[in-house]
Amino acid sequence: MKKVILTVMVSGIFMVSCSQKGTAVQAGSKVSESDRIAQGKVIFDNSCGKCHDLPDPKSHNDDEWIGIVNIMAKKSKLTDEQGTLVYEYITANN
Ligand code: HEC
Repeated sequence: MKKVILTVMVSGIFMVSCSQKGTAVQAGSKVSESDRIAQGKVIFDNSCGKCHDLPDPKSHNDDEWIGIVNIMAKKSKLTDEQGTLVYEYITANN
């Protein structure tokens, strides 16, 4: 399980650093962070209420959400990147 988590995180970071090429560091990273959380919310709202009610981000801490999102992202057929965005949204609100 640890290896899976690492892959999710690393691929998330890799994609961010790719997509941010040429952006101003300060403004770019701020906009991009709230942007990622907004994207995570859309994916969460659309994918995580299909089989059960939308879970409350506050129901688990950051560490617990890593395991849950890894399992649930697979159930939702999300890509690693989408799963990372959902994780960022949830942990920004717990
Ligand atoms: C294909 C159906 C399905 C989708 C889509 C799905 N879940 Fe679940 N989820 C389940 C089932 C079934 C359970 C309860 C059994 C289990 O734990 O495997 C569950 C349980 C949970 C729990 C409770 C786990 C615990 O340990 O308390 C949480 C939180 C959760 N899901 C979050 C999510 C999130 C976040 C998403 C979106 C990324 C999501 N789920 C998408 C089927 C789904």
